[in-house]
Amino acid sequence: MLHSGLLSSLCVYAPQDLGTTLAVGLGFVLAVSLILKELIAFYNAKFHPLCGFLGPRAATRSETWLYQMTKSDFPEEIFEKLHKEYNTQALRIGPNELHISDVNLYKVIYNQSSPFPKYAAFYDGFNTPHTVFAECDPVLHKERRRMLNPLFSRVGLFKLEPIIQQKISMLVEKIHLLAGNGPLNVYDAFRLMTTEVILQFAFGRSGGLIEEDQNGFRSWFLEGFDAASKSIPDLQYKPWLRHLTNIIPQALVYKLSPDIGNLLDMLKFAEDSLRHWQKSESKPDHPVVFDNLETVKYEEQVTEAMDILIAGADTTASTLTTGLIHILSNSGVERRLVEEIDSLPVNENGQLPLQALEKLEYLNATVKEALRLGMAVPGRLPRIVPNSLTEPFMVDGKVVPAGTIVSISTYTMHTDTSIWGPDAREFRPDRWIGPKSKGLDQYFCAFSKGARMCIGQNLAPAEVIIALAYLLRNFKMSLRSKSDIGVRKDRFTLQYEDPGFQVTFKPRC
Ligand code: HEM
Repeated sequence: MLHSGLLSSLCVYAPQDLGTTLAVGLGFVLAVSLILKELIAFYNAKFHPLCGFLGPRAATRSETWLYQMTKSDFPEEIFEKLHKEYNTQALRIGPNELHISDVNLYKVIYNQSSPFPKYAAFYDGFNTPHTVFAECDPVLHKERRRMLNPLFSRVGLFKLEPIIQQKISMLVEKIHLLAGNGPLNVYDAFRLMTTEVILQFAFGRSGGLIEEDQNGFRSWFLEGFDAASKSIPDLQYKPWLRHLTNIIPQALVYKLSPDIGNLLDMLKFAEDSLRHWQKSESKPDHPVVFDNLETVKYEEQVTEAMDILIAGADTTASTLTTGLIHILSNSGVERRLVEEIDSLPVNENGQLPLQALEKLEYLNATVKEALRLGMAVPGRLPRIVPNSLTEPFMVDGKVVPAGTIVSISTYTMHTDTSIWGPDAREFRPDRWIGPKSKGLDQYFCAFSKGARMCIGQNLAPAEVIIALAYLLRNFKMSLRSKSDIGVRKDRFTLQYEDPGFQVTFKPRC
């Protein structure tokens, strides 16, 4: 009797007791973690070694503020305002991070022989460990870079020229077909062209992207790309999310975050391409990145090819877009370019060869200016102040402690009036011509500088030069209104929102 009474009371009350215990336990954990968070925030704001550096209060307390900035449209403009507001060259943008605006320190941070190492948590967010882009260990980076360098040299570039010529010719042909239908989104058109060049180079295959849409330049690939790039800040600032999405089934990842799902889709595409490459019997007559990675683990070959695609496609396309926006907004620039390009004879294959185009002074100056003002990677490239420095690292007369995360952005470098003059924000190709241009190169940071400088610095300008030459030679292009240009967004690489860049084309002959 007593037994059954005890049992029945256990059956009735145990679940409730368990529920209460769990709720109390959870509440306790939550309360402790909130108190801990507050304590850390208080320490960061009042006692952290960077306390002497100025910045918004929220930025000094936790990384949430910087995460929110990273998700905003163009964080560099916000940092620029804050530098002025706090009257400082070393703005505290995170508990342990400074955004620096002293342009003379660029060569110290992004140095050739002893660069400050990359900040791992930021680069881990790209989810491509050990690639030449994401590797933070200087020795491992040097080794990977040595493997890839020959593919990206000037000699390597001329081996790739037939691909660039072919993809741009396909683009021009398609524009001829669609020109009568009204304005075309050339931002998307450029992205398809640059993606196709890299697919061929990094993956040894075409995605058929230029041909895919009969009426314009949309593609499943670009949609995936857009979604994937949106997921980067989450993966950078929520490492648990990155770890989780790397172990759970992909179907669940889609439910949790469709953007991260898209990123994994891209990796799957890269893996399929490697398998396709390994099986294929006929090899193309141009170099393919996989060829130089044979000694590297299978997964790392996949992520390396993927990273090269992410690093090389949108960057080159946004530079082309910015360049064309400025050319079409400035009839003087356009006229000079057309005259120069028209003066060049085509070769025996009916092509405008790169070597000849590189001799056109004004075209090359225009491309350099498009790279400068386009700033395809406008933002932070965070590095850690090493503890091996012989002299302390100083900004604004203050010592920056070893272990601090620091960066100087391309946006800061390329808008500084002490370097470029009062017209720093104007598109003026002539600044790259003549004796006055001497010395400017040391401040030109579109590709960054030093040991971690862009490996695609030969390839990207070549694509831009050839594409502009063919477009200006074949079409009279016009821009109807400013609303035909999408808003610029910095998602590590610069992107143009819808409607991209709408251009009206009229064949010239
Ligand atoms: C206009 C076009 C481009 C711009 C403005 C650009 C800019 C940059 C910048 C600023 C970096 C330094 C990133 C950092 O330190 O975190 C970088 C690195 C890199 N870029 Fe580019 N890039 C362009 C085109 C390309 C192309 C076409 C490729 C390849 C096909 C490429 C591949 C890479 C790689 C692999 C790295 C990492 C290099 C290393 O750390 O050793 N980029 N790029």
